[in-house]
Order: sequence, then C-alpha cells, then structure tokens
Amino acid sequence: MCGIVAYIGERTACPILINGLKRLEYRGYDSAGIALLEQGGLIQRKVAGKLQMLEEHLKGNSFTATLGIAHTRWATHGAPTDNNAHPHTSGSGDIAVVHNGIIENFGALKELLARKGHSFSTDTDSEVIAHLIEEFYDGDLTNAVRLAMSQVEGTYGIAVLSANHPDLFVAARHGSPLVIGLGAGENLVASDVSPIMEHTKKVVYLGERELVEVKRDGINISTIDNVPVPPKYHEIEWDLDQIEKGGFQHFMLKEIYEQHTAIRNCMRGRLNWEEGTARLNGLKLQLEELLDIKRIIITACGTSWHAALIGEYMIEDLARIPVEVEYASEFRYRSPIIDEGTLLFVISQSGETADTLAALREARRKGATVLGICNVVGSSITRETDGGIYIHAGPEIGVASTKAFTSQVTALSLITLLLARQRNMSLEKGRQIIDAMRRLPQQVEKMLEQEDKIKDIAARYADKNNFLYLGRGMNFPVALEGALKLKEISYIHAEGYPAAEMKHGPIALIDENMPVVVLAQQDQVYDKVISNIQEVKARDGQVIALATEGDEEIGHLANHVIYLPKVPYHLTPTVSIIPLQLLAYHVAVLRGCDVDRPRNLAKSVTVE
Ligand code: G6P
Repeated sequence: MCGIVAYIGERTACPILINGLKRLEYRGYDSAGIALLEQGGLIQRKVAGKLQMLEEHLKGNSFTATLGIAHTRWATHGAPTDNNAHPHTSGSGDIAVVHNGIIENFGALKELLARKGHSFSTDTDSEVIAHLIEEFYDGDLTNAVRLAMSQVEGTYGIAVLSANHPDLFVAARHGSPLVIGLGAGENLVASDVSPIMEHTKKVVYLGERELVEVKRDGINISTIDNVPVPPKYHEIEWDLDQIEKGGFQHFMLKEIYEQHTAIRNCMRGRLNWEEGTARLNGLKLQLEELLDIKRIIITACGTSWHAALIGEYMIEDLARIPVEVEYASEFRYRSPIIDEGTLLFVISQSGETADTLAALREARRKGATVLGICNVVGSSITRETDGGIYIHAGPEIGVASTKAFTSQVTALSLITLLLARQRNMSLEKGRQIIDAMRRLPQQVEKMLEQEDKIKDIAARYADKNNFLYLGRGMNFPVALEGALKLKEISYIHAEGYPAAEMKHGPIALIDENMPVVVLAQQDQVYDKVISNIQEVKARDGQVIALATEGDEEIGHLANHVIYLPKVPYHLTPTVSIIPLQLLAYHVAVLRGCDVDRPRNLAKSVTVE
C-alpha cells in the first residue's frame, strides 16, 4: 500500500526521502513522487512505475532543500499514471500533499470546491485535500490542515508542506498509520519505522485523528479538534541489518531462512516446563477469565487467516474449546454473535490491515474482549486490543509472508498449551508438547538443507499453469498457504484443497500437466491420503509428496518425495510449510518474477 516519508532538518532532503521510499517499496506501489522546498519555491517530480524511474528523473539535479515530502502510490482512485502520482498540489501550487488511505466524501468535496473556483487535474480522491487546505489557509498551515481534515470522511495519513512555510511540515492520520522519528536538529514522519530507523530510534506513533506540526527542533501534537496531546516516546527495537537483505537474493528467501530464529524468539521466556504450560502475560487475562472462555473467534486476512485455521484445529483438539475462524472482511459486515464467554483473537503481521482493524472494532463495540497476535510493535491493532501476543518475528519485508506465518502458528501453539493445561491436558502431555516445541527450530533449520532438491523440483514444473495442493487435518490449511504462496509470487493458478474433497471437483482437472502437491505425513489420516495419491496417479497427475522421514513406500507412488522430520501431529504445519515456501520461491525466480514485490499486491493492506 502507499508509503509516506517526510523530512525536515539540516541535511539535503532529497536522498533521505528517496532512500526512505526504497525502504517502503516492500509495501507495494505503482508510482512515486517527491516535493521539495527549494529556495526558489516548491518543486515536485512524480512518475508512474518503479522508484528507479523517479531516480532517473531526478538525475542531474542538485537540489539543496532540507524540507520535503515523498510518496509511493498504490492506485485506488485513478490509474497509476504520472499525473495521478502524489504529491498533489493546490491551485496556487504552493501547497503539496501526500496521502495514504481513501477519502470517501471526495466527490462531494470536489463539487463544493469546484463551485468555489478550484479546478482539478487528476483522477484521485487525494487531490481534494490540497485544495481543501488551500481553501482554509489564511497564513496558518497547521490550522488549515486541521480544518480541512475535519471535513474529510474516510481514512488518511497525510504529510503537507507549503512554499510559505520553510520551517515546518504538517502530518495527520486517521486510519493510516504514521510514525514520527525524532533526531538531533531533524525530524521525520513515515508510514512505518523502516525509513526512520537509520536516522533515529526514538519515535512517537501518531494516534487516530491526531495531527503533528513538525519543525527542525521539535514537534507539536494535537487532535484534529485541537486538543494538545503529550507525545509518548518509544525506542525502535529492530536493527537496521534486519531490514536489509544480508547477502540473500531476495527478502523472501532471507525471511524463509530466518524462521528457526523467529520461532525461537516467539517462544523465548514463554514456555514453563515445570508446570507444562505457557506463560503469556501480554494476554492480560486472569486465570478465572481464561477459564470462563466458552467460545473463540479468530479473524484475520490472507496468510494470517491460514494461521488462524491451524489455531482452530489445535485449540479445538487440545483445549476442547469451540473455535470459529472468519475472514475479517466478512466478519466486519455480518452481525456476528458475540455472547458472554466469547473471546476474539485478531491475527495480523502488520497490525494495520484495514479489514482486521474494522473487525476488531466491531467486536469491541459488541462487548467482546479482543486479543491480538501481531508482529509490528505499536501498530494500530496492538493499540486497540485488550491484550495479546507479539510474535517477535522481526521485520518482514517480502510481500509474501513466511516467517510471520510460522511465528503466528507458534504463538497459537502457546495459546493452545495454556488453555489446554487449564482444562483437560495432563502435566505430562504439556511437557511433551514443550519438548517438541523446543525441538522445532532445529527441525525447521534442517528442512532448509533440502533447498537444492526443492529447487530441482521447481525447475521441473516452473512452466506449468496450474498447481493443486492437497492436505488433510492440520495440513489442510498448510495446503491453502502453499497454494497462496505460489500464486502470490509466481502468478501460477494454484488451489489448496482438503484432500478428500478432490473427488468433488478438482479431480476433473487432473492430467499429466497438473502437478499435485500432497501433504502426506504419517498421521491418523495417512492411509486416506495415500488413496488420494493413487487417485491422482490413476489420472496421470504428477505428485510431489511431503512425507515423514523413513516412509519408503511413498517413494513408489509419488514422482518426488520431500521428507519431513517426525513431529507431533499438532506441530506438523511448522515444518511442512517450509518446503512449500521454498518451492513457490524457486518457481517464481525461475519464471523471472519480482519475488519481493509481486504485481498488484501490497504488504500492508490499509484500505478495504
Ligand atoms: C496482504 C499481504 C499478505 C498478508 C495479508 C494480511 O495481503 O500481502 O501477506 O497475509 O495482507 O496481512 P496482515 O498484516 O494483517 O497479517
């Protein structure tokens, strides 16, 4: 989704802004632009396409501005053209605005402003903001922004500068996150911490409907309604090398390889072997409250939704609490039944997904206790939930989620353990699970050693147009996630299915051109899955099986076998997803796709 960087200080703003945009590239975008306050006035450059195009455009200029705003746009209103790219300027050309989010009443505002003589030159909703600010401007930029934003319905994260104010810029947010970075004699604002952290680690997260006036020597935060807000300072915990590729060809590959560490970090300090349970103080729930839970709803989007499905299997099986999993986008518009005893979990890597945030608000409105499972510290979801668990996966830059997924599943295992031990699970069983969880990081690391073999399989099938992924039980959500990974980054059509359902439709598609990835670990449904493999083979399908190490029989049936270590049934997804991530990655690389920034996708979907 769109990204914002704004800078004011003593240094030349242009390279800082462009580098900042590079850090935000992972969010997904289709055009980029910059506005600088040069001595001669406000100048701007904006182009459709990759950031590189903007850099080309800026080549040869020696801008000296120490104040500027920049943007990467992910088109919602109007095609991704040079003209529709941000910044947008007011009629006089004196005010420039970059905007994330969607202005819902832009039509009405545009009409109103047109009647007052404003004329518009883009197809975007965002352009009205620049004109609206101009309309209210009487020499005080901050106040004009405040008045303008009080007229706006929808979501926004904005940064505004004016040719008449060389000593400040203004930013405001409602629905689209903004972080303020505080340096020495310089300050920044950005959509997330990644463009800020190479300059300073001291940040303030701008709250909902808040506005900040940013000067070289300080900031001034207030609400849109002009109530002063004292800043709450935070220290960024992530290091710069965590958001760099560190020798890997792509962030996605780096993040696949970080999974054993991420899982370890997620478990750190949370396993209590003595009592065979998990320690999750972040949930902020008392023992009695946990015992009162009669039903759990988990809501999320994309990969996080797949993690939620795994949570459903685990919690129902082991803690015997009924669990429902729902897409956040559906949940928010239904009238979900939330009665006493219903606990809601929202899962989100970014903590900013618009649908998940709306689902959380809807549930809270209905009186539910809502807990978050999030990665990004200080994100909107973490600030609006009653408590939760940070997965501690570290920054995830690749658009296709990998380490966040396995860390979310780890967090769900911890929750399951806690709830199950309070109910029917014995101390011995609890300890067995802890022991198995402790072995997981090493087993994941071992899986990564099979990369070359998986690469060979990828080469064999990279030219196919369709893939089918089959799994049962805990591995059905893994089949869904494996298929999602492939379609996200290689643009191959892929479907995940519960293996037995194949007979009710997908079997019609199977022929010698259909690779079928089958999760066939030795669990209680192993024999059934073997029958499904036979059905695929009988129709000349090409089977790539994921099997438990030591299972030699499957070698006679499948075209390729990837062996997985023996892990208890409830923990299998964490190891079985690894080869599927690597398969998707290598297929995409072989097809020449932009693995970290797949077309049309965004890392953090902050619009509906
Ligand atoms: C986007 C990303 C996915 C992610 C989903 C949910 O679609 O491309 O990778 O799974 O959003 O994001 P969240 O941050 O809420 O987990």
